[in-house]
Amino acid sequence: MRVFSQCRVQMLPSSLLVLLLSSSLSVVTAVPPNVDLEIPVPAKDASLRSLDRNLVSWSIQNRDLPIFARSKLLENFFKALSTNIAIGQSVRLGGGESDKTTYGSDITITAQKFRSGYYGAQAQGNVTLGPNYFASFKENYAPDARYIWCLNLINTTNNFEAAISTAAGVLDYLGDELDLFEIGNEADFYGSKGFRDSEWDASMMLPEWNYIADEVQKISPNKTIRFMAGGFANPAQIVTKDFDIPGIIAAGFQSSRIPWYSMHLYPQSGCSGAVTIAPLLEHNTLSDILSTYIPQIAAAESVGAQFAIGETNTVSCVGRPGISDTFAAALWLVDYVLFAATLGIRRVYFHSTTRGSYSPIIPVKYALDSVNYTAGILPLSYGAYFISEVLSFNDTLLVSQIEGGNDTDYSSYSIWDETKKLRKIVFINLQSYNSSVGGTNPSMPDTEIYSSDEARPSTRVTVATPWEPGQELSLIRLQAPGSNSKSQVNVSSFTLSEKDGSVKSNLVDTIITVQENGDVEFDLLASEAVLIQHYSNVLANKHPTKTGSKAANSTVNGMIMRTRGADMNISHRLSLNNKFMASAFLMSVLLLFV
Ligand SMILES: *[C@@H]1O[C@H](CO)[C@@H](O)[C@H](O)[C@H]1NC(C)=O
Ligand SMILES: *[C@@H]1O[C@H](CO)[C@@H](O)[C@H](O)[C@H]1NC(C)=O
Ligand SMILES: *[C@@H]1O[C@H](CO)[C@@H](O)[C@H](O)[C@H]1NC(C)=O
Ligand SMILES: *[C@@H]1O[C@H](CO)[C@@H](O)[C@H](O)[C@H]1NC(C)=O
Ligand SMILES: *[C@@H]1O[C@H](CO)[C@@H](O)[C@H](O)[C@H]1NC(C)=O
Ligand SMILES: *[C@@H]1O[C@H](CO)[C@@H](O)[C@H](O)[C@H]1NC(C)=O
Ligand SMILES: *[C@@H]1O[C@H](CO)[C@@H](O)[C@H](O)[C@H]1NC(C)=O
Ligand SMILES: *[C@@H]1O[C@H](CO)[C@@H](O)[C@H](O)[C@H]1NC(C)=O
Ligand SMILES: *[C@@H]1O[C@H](CO)[C@@H](O)[C@H](O)[C@H]1NC(C)=O
Ligand SMILES: *[C@@H]1O[C@H](CO)[C@@H](O)[C@H](O)[C@H]1NC(C)=O
Repeated sequence: MRVFSQCRVQMLPSSLLVLLLSSSLSVVTAVPPNVDLEIPVPAKDASLRSLDRNLVSWSIQNRDLPIFARSKLLENFFKALSTNIAIGQSVRLGGGESDKTTYGSDITITAQKFRSGYYGAQAQGNVTLGPNYFASFKENYAPDARYIWCLNLINTTNNFEAAISTAAGVLDYLGDELDLFEIGNEADFYGSKGFRDSEWDASMMLPEWNYIADEVQKISPNKTIRFMAGGFANPAQIVTKDFDIPGIIAAGFQSSRIPWYSMHLYPQSGCSGAVTIAPLLEHNTLSDILSTYIPQIAAAESVGAQFAIGETNTVSCVGRPGISDTFAAALWLVDYVLFAATLGIRRVYFHSTTRGSYSPIIPVKYALDSVNYTAGILPLSYGAYFISEVLSFNDTLLVSQIEGGNDTDYSSYSIWDETKKLRKIVFINLQSYNSSVGGTNPSMPDTEIYSSDEARPSTRVTVATPWEPGQELSLIRLQAPGSNSKSQVNVSSFTLSEKDGSVKSNLVDTIITVQENGDVEFDLLASEAVLIQHYSNVLANKHPTKTGSKAANSTVNGMIMRTRGADMNISHRLSLNNKFMASAFLMSVLLLFV
């Protein structure tokens, strides 16, 4: 949620709008019936970027976490993702309300009140947190999650008492679960919104920011406090003043306590006016927008830090039903984070609110315009789940685009291990296909259901690989009845319970083999993504399965299928252990000294 959402319409760069409009008006293209790709070895070192296990991360308005903790939905969803990636989720607690938040250690608002949504669906005024805020989700919430907390930079009263007292509470209650602080949400808008004078720029922001950072460090002298700097609203193309990463680094935001920089990105503005589903299914629109972040990434890396998209989603202002809550959003997420990773964007924080159509999970039922909506799961969560399967590996993975393997309607990636062995292939078919099946979701308002007349187009993809002939491969699909579907989405039968987010149906690997000449061949439909890897990789890593379930083999239309089960003997079991935490930490420490 963005507090300054109203102005995003005017502030969208004309070039970005032209880009979106022109692509939406373009003639309907299609993926050809045959696509032939080649993955040459050795991989070009220059094109390989390492994949952060938290590539898909989450941003939740700090006020909202207690409501998300009222049901098991988000917790179990996080557990499924974390089982695959062998590390907890990274959660940024921040958004427009960070800059309205104050803290009082004597605040008596009960934990129960926080959990009931004391500040409303969208707090208009000040948010005062106290110890009971933390008590409202602590101990009973996603134990492996690590947090980023965004502090109030707008409120200057008593030398930033709001920020500093909140930080003391956060340090007290989150302890080692806190990874980073941010100071100020979308501070590039402060001048135009009257929170600072219009001249205010990065060099004027620096002493305020440093003062708060120093004071926060004093609260906890034995712990090195680290920060994510930036958090600006404007996309890379229309930076105001020097509020971008090169700008703030030049102004002096550079030190070992800043291992991360971030900017926010909403490719479409939902605050008013027309938004469409079309750009979610256009690889070129996405890659054009993300490529404008290359100088931001380079600036962060030039000082040994990492760059993240710190808040993002399909459409700003809580999303738009019929767009953000469709399967197209899941396919978009997959292409978004993998393309971002090829550029060096290390993490992408998807913003969620308790009722937003862009959220992966709707935690509790709600009423809107005298209609009742249930708690439940939206398609975006299956895009995130598919990526957790891409990232599932007991070692560091690297990613590259497959050269010649992208177009408006499709996109493809090769995934490598540290010894530069090809490990996985991802192919995303973004061609639109509308279906009347799965057109509604009880968690979201109904929207017009479109339906395509023609049969659903299918494409045969042939990839020349260095893989040994005869090897068994696992193929899994991110699938739904159509790009417009709001329900009936799954990853090769893997589904989560709409009631509590636990695994409802186990994943079924389709087994294919590498051909004599090293080719790998598969078919996929319009609006579908596939992940291919050695079946032995699947067995080597832990995956979420239904409690007490048994693995099973079957043959369907001549295809060998293997259903995952809780009884599968995983030869190289890795749980959410300290090993990755330690290496991830070491990595960020090392980066500081590059
Ligand atoms: C927020 O707090 C300030 C200062 O206490 C007060 O003036 C203002 O009315 C409050 N706003 C709301 C909406 O409660
Ligand atoms: C600013 O912070 C002070 C605490 O230092 C608080 O009393 C006041 O209500 C806050 N103002 C607003 C507008 O939130
Ligand atoms: C910091 O560590 C020192 C030495 O271990 C200890 O004496 C001191 O109490 C600690 N301070 C805090 C605030 O924990
Ligand atoms: C919505 O839920 C409320 C409370 O449970 C109930 O009173 C109301 O009748 C429901 N409305 C509809 C349209 O079902
Ligand atoms: C990953 O698994 C392989 C095969 O079991 C093993 O050789 C390798 O050491 C493991 N790597 C890590 C980082 O655990
Ligand atoms: C992706 O497609 C564009 C347009 O056809 C092309 O210019 C670019 O080189 C392609 N990228 C890769 C990695 O093949
Ligand atoms: C599906 O419906 C959307 C929304 O009306 C439209 O933009 C798109 O072109 C349709 N796709 C097909 C293949 O007809
Ligand atoms: C998964 O999706 C496919 C394609 O939409 C569908 O045929 C299948 O029944 C679904 N499976 C589950 C378990 O939902
Ligand atoms: C399924 O087939 C594989 C390969 O032949 C075999 O290793 C495994 O034990 C079988 N699993 C079950 C449950 O039959
Ligand atoms: C699991 O596999 C390992 C090695 O592959 C083997 O030593 C062990 O006995 C197996 N455990 C079970 C319960 O089958």
